[in-house]
Amino acid sequence: MNSIQLDRHGRLKHFLGIEGLSRTLLLEILDTASSFLSVDAQSVKKVPLLRGKTIVNLFFEPSTRTRTTFELAAKRLSADVLNFNISTSSTSKGETLIDMLRNLEAMHCDMFVVRHEAGGAALFMAQHVAPHISIINAGDGRHEHPTQAMLDMYTIRHYKGDFAPLKVAIVGDLLHSRVARSNIYALTTLGVNEVRVVGPKTLIPTGIEELGIKVFHRLKTGLADVDVIIMLRLQRERMENALIPSAHEYFQYYGLTEETLKIAHPDAIVMHPGPINRGVEIDSCVADGPRSVILPQVTNGIAVRMAVMAMTLGVVTI
Ligand code: NCD
Repeated sequence: MNSIQLDRHGRLKHFLGIEGLSRTLLLEILDTASSFLSVDAQSVKKVPLLRGKTIVNLFFEPSTRTRTTFELAAKRLSADVLNFNISTSSTSKGETLIDMLRNLEAMHCDMFVVRHEAGGAALFMAQHVAPHISIINAGDGRHEHPTQAMLDMYTIRHYKGDFAPLKVAIVGDLLHSRVARSNIYALTTLGVNEVRVVGPKTLIPTGIEELGIKVFHRLKTGLADVDVIIMLRLQRERMENALIPSAHEYFQYYGLTEETLKIAHPDAIVMHPGPINRGVEIDSCVADGPRSVILPQVTNGIAVRMAVMAMTLGVVTI
């Protein structure tokens, strides 16, 4: 993937996945995002870096948070933005992805932000698109969701400082989660002390420990002494068979409550990519409680997406 997503100087050309990216590059994204966070807080929330550029959001799956934060990020960089919600657009009339790309290219667009139910969709587009266009993966099937991982890393660094001493637990439906995969690559590359995944056997992919992480099937052991908890949504829309007995039973075993949160380190932060299912994977008291950083994650997402857009279009190098 890197042969496509990096240019010959090793700079980001597309942003397709975290797998294989260097620690230096991940830190560069975080530092660039840091410089944009202040833009986000100004009363005039714009910088002219991408003035005259056109960015197209191509969302083949529903999304609110991710699509809106990409749109805001583009607008805060002064780009023009088009939004396509493709279930209501022309691929449902039988147009192929390539035809759609060619048409958008003919309109002189500069970047496509793509979310697709098929793993590899963003890579496919990067392989076929005109050379001046950048592709950003906004989530492809169960494969990767790299900007989510970077906003998660940004949030962890903001609250915890150094990555090296941290123990991080990712809890829940690992099997269907592109967020978890990207986070595992990012956390191991950034050199955290320990990455754990916690969930029922039916929701943990076999062989996942080969990514250099530890697998736990009980919250009690999995959360012991961790500094960061990343909760995942039960992605029932992706489950072909009943992989859990019921949402109620799942909550009893894997739900994060004030009680189960006590197993973690007393300063542990609680994260979730959203959308959250209250009472399924997380109790409202925890989601809205003092250790939750779920809303700061959303805010940080804008700065991180600004950074990735500016870096792939080559307008910032720090
Ligand atoms: C995630 C996704 O779409 O992969 N959400 C997101 O991008 N904010 C996770 C999920 O849908 O549970």
